[in-house]
Amino acid sequence: MSAAIRQALASDVDGLVALENAVFAADRLSRRSFQRLVASPSAAVIVAIEGEAIAGCAIVLFRAGSRSARLYSISVAPGMSGAGTGRALLASVVAAAMERGATDLRLEVREDNPRAIALYERNGFVPTGRRPGYYADGVAAVRYKRLVAGTATRMQREARDPKSGKRTPS
Ligand SMILES: CC(C)(COP(=O)(O)OP(=O)(O)OC[C@H]1O[C@@H](n2cnc3c(N)ncnc32)[C@H](O)[C@@H]1OP(=O)(O)O)[C@@H](O)C(=O)NCCC(=O)NCCS
Repeated sequence: MSAAIRQALASDVDGLVALENAVFAADRLSRRSFQRLVASPSAAVIVAIEGEAIAGCAIVLFRAGSRSARLYSISVAPGMSGAGTGRALLASVVAAAMERGATDLRLEVREDNPRAIALYERNGFVPTGRRPGYYADGVAAVRYKRLVAGTATRMQREARDPKSGKRTPS
């Protein structure tokens, strides 16, 4: 069964902190940061729900006067990875960026994270540069970018005519 995707609520903060602690060993977002992000008009926090639990999360940042959105973080619970949750979150990230009028999405990823890089490259992101020593431990960042329009158009078509999409009607 695939996870349900929705915007995060204030009541999700405990689950978001638990997910962050399960996924990341360092540079974790604090509870305070999640509280701020969930309430912020310049962020979209998207969660994947499996049963009662938060199985994944994506955070997108927007800036006034900019048509570039930034994928700040994406994570899937270790026991849930490889089941398409990351891909589903990414599709919602693109839809959220489109809703806010963004024309492109940007992100940085650690060069030593092949799994995340594979997810991005299979979903339309192209590398735009490399920043040596970007992370505190000296690892380089690779920058990626994708336009939001292509997927948005397909999603709009599927929303209008569900039969044209691949989703099973509920
Ligand atoms: C990166 C991450 C979000 C992917 O989530 P996921 O739910 O496992 O991803 P999916 O199941 O949707 O798979 C997406 C792609 O990942 C790749 N992938 C999946 N399992 C993989 C594995 N075991 N090894 C390598 N790549 C794999 C594939 O390219 C896959 O694409 P495809 O299924 O379309 O062929 C997740 O592994 C994660 O949370 N990692 C730790 C946090 C992280 O590094 N975040 C990114 C930087 S903030």
